[in-house]
Amino acid sequence: MSETQLLPETDALIDGLRSRRSGHNFDADADLDEETLEELVRDATLAPSSYNLQPWEFVTVQDDDRLDELVDIAFGQEHIAEAGTAILVAGHTDPKTADRVFEEWVEAGRVDEETAQGMKEQTVAGYESDRAGRDYAVRNASLAAQNLLLSAHARGLTATPMTGFDFEAAAEFADLPEDTIPVVLLAVGPSGGDEPERLPRRSVDEVLHRESF
Ligand SMILES: Cc1cc2nc3c(=O)[nH]c(=O)nc-3n(C[C@H](O)[C@H](O)[C@H](O)COP(=O)(O)O)c2cc1C
Repeated sequence: MSETQLLPETDALIDGLRSRRSGHNFDADADLDEETLEELVRDATLAPSSYNLQPWEFVTVQDDDRLDELVDIAFGQEHIAEAGTAILVAGHTDPKTADRVFEEWVEAGRVDEETAQGMKEQTVAGYESDRAGRDYAVRNASLAAQNLLLSAHARGLTATPMTGFDFEAAAEFADLPEDTIPVVLLAVGPSGGDEPERLPRRSVDEVLHRESF
């Protein structure tokens, strides 16, 4: 095996992902500025996605009354209101960006028209069952959410992913279209101080399976 080439940013990236936490201690008196919010979403959109479909949406909530409503939808998780910003990361259950994205593959000279058409047909077929559509939504939007969490951490913010909420109520609250489902709710905001020690992780020996389970 050849020696791994470390990138100039390796230390910062690895330190960042190793020190990221799901924080619950927010500074209730400080708010996220608009520019940072947009940067967080921009970083989220750099996540990988199947064929670059980018089948995700981000609904941000900062209005105090709306945040209180979200606390109820999330079964009383008060840290959502304390964070000051909630971001509902949602995913498409239909490949509705496919026409545009496969055109972009051709325009960029990555594939010819015929190949792009084949890729598109394969993609559309992959979304045919309800289950498959939901799986795509969850897989892709989850990666975007993790990017956003890491970006928040890199900016010194506190952030927590949550699925402890009523999905149907959240979809209605955010006015999501039929083909877009809530995947994960993020509470993001300026830190209010230290977090408790990280809970133990299962060891690499326990979770790493070589060649097969
Ligand atoms: C899918 C998922 C759902 C989660 N739901 C909640 C939640 O509803 N409320 C909450 O406070 N934290 C939630 N968390 C955060 C976890 O409790 C946290 O990631 C875990 O305890 C590990 O801690 P760490 O992220 O600080 O390493 C969730 C995390 C994930 C990935």
